[in-house]
Amino acid sequence: MAHLISPSLLSADFGNLQRDIEMINKSEADWFHLDIMDGVFVPNISFGFPVIKYIKKHAKKPLDVHLMIVDPDRYIEDFYKAGADILTVHFEACNHLHRTVQNIKSKGMKAGVSLNPHTPVHLLKDIIADVDLVLIMSVNPGFGGQKFIPNSIEKIKELKKLILEKNSNSLIEIDGGVDNSNAKILIDAGCDVLVVGNYIFSSDNQINTIQKLKNISK
Ligand code: DX5
Ligand code: ZN
Repeated sequence: MAHLISPSLLSADFGNLQRDIEMINKSEADWFHLDIMDGVFVPNISFGFPVIKYIKKHAKKPLDVHLMIVDPDRYIEDFYKAGADILTVHFEACNHLHRTVQNIKSKGMKAGVSLNPHTPVHLLKDIIADVDLVLIMSVNPGFGGQKFIPNSIEKIKELKKLILEKNSNSLIEIDGGVDNSNAKILIDAGCDVLVVGNYIFSSDNQINTIQKLKNISK
């Protein structure tokens, strides 16, 4: 499968949000990556339902919603109603991950699980067959524009092996510090989805930057 690009709106210009949404609509990007932070699971607060609903109204591509919140079970229904197509929860934030994943899927959304940089891949052994996506955090979650943690490449390779071993259909998504210097290495290691925030939105020609990321070949 050709890899997908999911631009993170965390680095968008929220004063010109509709303009940035239209840019992604027009570009070769595949998804919209939405980072939801509660100020408890991560040391930052981002945006909530009114903004997501507004994005849904204008976005012509799936919403890839990354929840960096404690106890995400409380809000699964609300994220579904707000327009999430893929809903990713953090492994570290769920006491009953299997139940959470089933709840997400029962609404018709794709279910993702995210691992913080310190959380080992092997902990997914008994859930990998049930998930649609694993998001490997390649920075500590909470902020855009941080430096990529190189150990994430090994984690992707290990995850790819686990997915094959367990006959899982899960996609591998990488999030944090992705740019043109590491994108090819990540794709070669087995990544299916690149989340890219700062590198796209700080570039002079965003459409072109997305095109280049999309057209990297294995
Ligand atoms: C960080 C978020 C990321 C972030 C990625 O907690 O999950 O999605 O926006 O942004 P960059 O590409 O700037 O590291
Ligand atoms: Zn994210």
